[in-house]
Amino acid sequence: MIQKLKQWLVGYTSEEKKPSDLTERGKALKQGPLPRHVAIIMDGNGRWAKKRGMPRIAGHRAGMKTVRQITRAADDLGIEALTLYSFSTENWKRPKDEVNYLMGLPEEFLRTDLDELVKRNIQVKMLGEEKDLPEHTLRALRQFKEATEENTGMVLSFALNYGSRTEILHALHQIIEDVKRGKLNKDHLDETDFERYLYTADLPEPDLMIRTSGEVRISNFMLWQLAYSELWFTDVQWPDFSQSMFYQAIEDFQHRSRRYGAV
Ligand code: FPP
Repeated sequence: MIQKLKQWLVGYTSEEKKPSDLTERGKALKQGPLPRHVAIIMDGNGRWAKKRGMPRIAGHRAGMKTVRQITRAADDLGIEALTLYSFSTENWKRPKDEVNYLMGLPEEFLRTDLDELVKRNIQVKMLGEEKDLPEHTLRALRQFKEATEENTGMVLSFALNYGSRTEILHALHQIIEDVKRGKLNKDHLDETDFERYLYTADLPEPDLMIRTSGEVRISNFMLWQLAYSELWFTDVQWPDFSQSMFYQAIEDFQHRSRRYGAV
């Protein structure tokens, strides 16, 4: 057990850090229509660990490796935005140790991955409510922002302390304020205006939403933004999700017919 734990809690090796090259399959994918924005509900870390007799945090640890792998795969394909659901407003109900571990992941990711993200010209963002996040987590997120805000490549967003209903309510409160101040005319408020008040204001809508681990629901994730997204589900748990499965999701996306309500 101790040995197994060690195996999962050790730091990343340089081998794991090596950027992935675009395979023939990746090159073929680039010929077809690519989603501009892929949003992912990374689910199944806890069950993945439990199946192996390990604590839940070992699942999150393994999930971080998948984060790195899928970030590289998305970036290599030339996808504009990748959003990862990392901590929901409901996740505070989890055991304290697990919450603490998850709150330490941005610092860890900063330490292990910032150099590569900068080299890749990736911009890192956070979507969610900053209030309630511990200072050390906010500090890491600020460092990510400062180090990458001039980058012009893929936008990698971590949805942290994110809940879509909270996001919509937050937008509504700001809209009411702006109407009161005369900055916005309520009679002309349209969908485009509303979107400017969401955390995702600067992002295109997700064309593709992936959820791992066999659950087939949205779980308070981007309820407004997913209105016309293609949804793709797999039984595979997040730590086992791979570049090849990511390609599969995009291949399937390329075979979908998107009609946006038209015929
Ligand atoms: C869901 O699995 C996963 C999470 C709640 C957290 C996932 C976060 C990461 C993989 C890393 C995020 C990285 C940064 C830098 C913030 P679960 O625990 O709900 O799994 P279960 O449904 O099997 O219990």
